[in-house]
This record gives sequence, structure tokens and C-alpha cells, in this order.
Amino acid sequence: TLIPCIVAGGAGTRLWPVSREAMPKPFMRLADGLSLLQKTFERVAGLDDVARMLTVINRELLFRTLDDYRPLNRRRLGLDFLLEPMGRNTAPAIAAAALHAVRHYGEEAQLLVLPADHLIRDQQAFVSAVARARDLAEAGWLVTFGIRPGHAETGYGYIQQGEALEAGGYRVASFVEKPDLQTAQTYLEGGEHLWNAGMFCFRADVLLRELREHAPQVVEGVERCLALSGSVEGKQGKQCELDAPSFAEVTDISIDYALMERSSRVAVVPCDLGWSDIGSWQALRELTPADANGNQIIGEAVLHNVQDCYIDSPKRLVGAVGVRDLVVVDTPDALLIADARSTQDVKFIAQELKKRG
Ligand code: GDD
Ligand code: MG
Repeated sequence: TLIPCIVAGGAGTRLWPVSREAMPKPFMRLADGLSLLQKTFERVAGLDDVARMLTVINRELLFRTLDDYRPLNRRRLGLDFLLEPMGRNTAPAIAAAALHAVRHYGEEAQLLVLPADHLIRDQQAFVSAVARARDLAEAGWLVTFGIRPGHAETGYGYIQQGEALEAGGYRVASFVEKPDLQTAQTYLEGGEHLWNAGMFCFRADVLLRELREHAPQVVEGVERCLALSGSVEGKQGKQCELDAPSFAEVTDISIDYALMERSSRVAVVPCDLGWSDIGSWQALRELTPADANGNQIIGEAVLHNVQDCYIDSPKRLVGAVGVRDLVVVDTPDALLIADARSTQDVKFIAQELKKRG
């Protein structure tokens, strides 16, 4: 059985002020009215042979998540939840998912881990990449999905493609998470590296075996936590609320550093999915159509002599005069004004606010 596992956490600090701790990026709605989380759900619901899915998310977000899923769950997939008291990054979240799967659905259950904050425009390509990944996962590989890099990017993992395996996959010769700009540039020019899409497919038992070898403290910490956590069988699926004191003790590390950089059992399925990690306002902007002056307006605005600006103000009228290359995002309690070339640095605002408490 294949169990899709949606992981959602992190604050999405580069998308401040819309994405915050209280309203993380997966709940951001795009122009079509669907949230990124809903788009992820639909992607999963489009796979055959899926009877249930698992979501790992902060416990405060359970009801919001169910609200998002409800109108889309026409196939009545079982909805299991692992509810985190706080974020400990993706390695603990994924370890908990694998332990949950083994316990309830058997050793050979396959997990398909999906971030809840991506866009994939080509569903057909996604379905076929997942089919290839499942064959490799069955053969004992930890499967990643490789995207041809478009530019030197320091926010992604880089996968060096090695020898060919079955099912159109390749062994991963090396995996480097978030290289510096110079290294990313070298990888781009060398042509041997792919971006890690952040999705993974594996047998739950294989993941646990590899994680025990390379990051045993993560598995042990999560096991201790699960032993103390209560689980209830709800109408739609199993809900397990992770015990807070013991989960707080688990090492905070991403699966990329904890495992993908270290294991020799990593494979990659190269694919062209129309993939986009909506990491910054600039990335989001590339998905929004522009008018003749290069402006993208969400909401109402009166412009005079304005060029190449992104103005997102669903509630308040905006007037702008004589400006260009600005990103303006208005929300009820905070307003962002940024140079369009500096949208990666928006994270510093969220960081500073966190410091101020
Ligand atoms: N449940 C849960 N708990 N989910 C989490 C947590 C957590 O503590 N932390 C992060 N996530 C979710 C995020 O919401 C996102 O959906 C996914 O896990 C990946 O986390 P990010 O924090 O967005 O990782 P990243 O973007 O820095 O890097 C990853 O994704 C890149 C592609 O977008 C890595 O896998 C990179 O190698 C990859 O290139
Ligand atoms: Mg991300």
C-alpha cells in the first residue's frame, strides 16, 4: 500500500506578512482560491491505489487542515494525523510517519512524503514519476525526485546523478543540502546535478533502518515520544497527538541533513513536473499574469507611472505614483514594501520580529 504523507510546518518567513507562524505557507491561497495545502491534497487524490493519507502538522492547525480537506475528499480517503506540539523539522516528522505506518499498516507500507507548499503543474508527469519511484522504493531505495536546475540556488538540495538503476532511476552519487552560491554555480555549470524537489518515496521499514544507522538519536527520540503519545480512532482516521515534553527533546534536523546527505541507498527519479517551490514573493510573482506595464495587482489599485510592481492588497485600495520594481503586500495588521530584487531578504523581517517577541 502507498500512503501519501503531507508534511506541513515551518514559518515560510520569506513570505511575510501573509505567511506567519499562525498562518503558515501551506494555507496561503493562490489566485484560483485554493490553498497550497489543498493543491497538495488534490495531487494525492489523483493517484490510484491510495486509500488513506497521513498528515504531519502542528496540533493548532488540525481543524484548519480538516476544513481545507473536507470539500476535496470526494473519494473519502482515510485521514490520519500526527499532531506536533512544536516543529522539530522534517527528520522527526518523517520518522514519526514511518513508525506510524509500520505500526498500523505493516512493514512493507510505502510512504510518499510531500511538502505542502509546492506547486506542480503537470499532474500526468507527477503520476508517472510516482510510479517509477514506487518501483525503486520497493527495491529498497530512498527515492528523491530530481528537477533540472534553472539557476544557481542556495535554498535547495543538490543531487549528483550516478549510475542508472531500474525504472528510469539513478543512484545518487552525492547529495548536498543548501550549498553556498559558488558551489551552486559550479553544480549548475557542471550539468551533473539536479535540484531535490523535497518529495520522497520509500518503504517505511527501509527509512527506519537507514535513519537508525545515520541518525539513531532521531528515531530513538521519536520512539520514546510515541510510546507516551495518545492515539484516537476518529471517524475519518487515526489521530495521534505527540507528547510535548518528549517531542521537545528530539533533535531538530531536516531529513536532508540527517539522512539524504549520509545514506548510500538514495536514488533519484529525474522528472519535469512544472515544479515550483514558492519560496519568495518573487517566485510567487512569476505565476501571476502581468498587465502591459508589467504590474501584477491583486485587489484594487490606482496607478500612475508605475512599472513592474507586484501589489497584493485584497482588502484596501492602493494608490501608487512614479515607482517601479516594488513588491507591496498588505494584510490587516502588517504591510510589506520591498524592492523586487530583495524578496529573499524578507525573512529578516520575520526574524527580527521573532527576536522582539
Ligand atoms: N510537520 C512538519 N514539521 N513539517 C515541516 C517541519 C516540521 O517541523 N519543518 C518543515 N516542514 C515541512 C514544510 O512545511 C515543507 O512542506 C517541507 O517540510 C520542507 O521543509 P522546508 O523548511 O520548506 O525545507 P526547505 O525548503 O528549506 O528545503 C527542502 O525543500 C527543498 C525544495 O523545496 C529540502 O528538502 C531541500 O533539499 C529541497 O531542495
Ligand atoms: Mg521549502
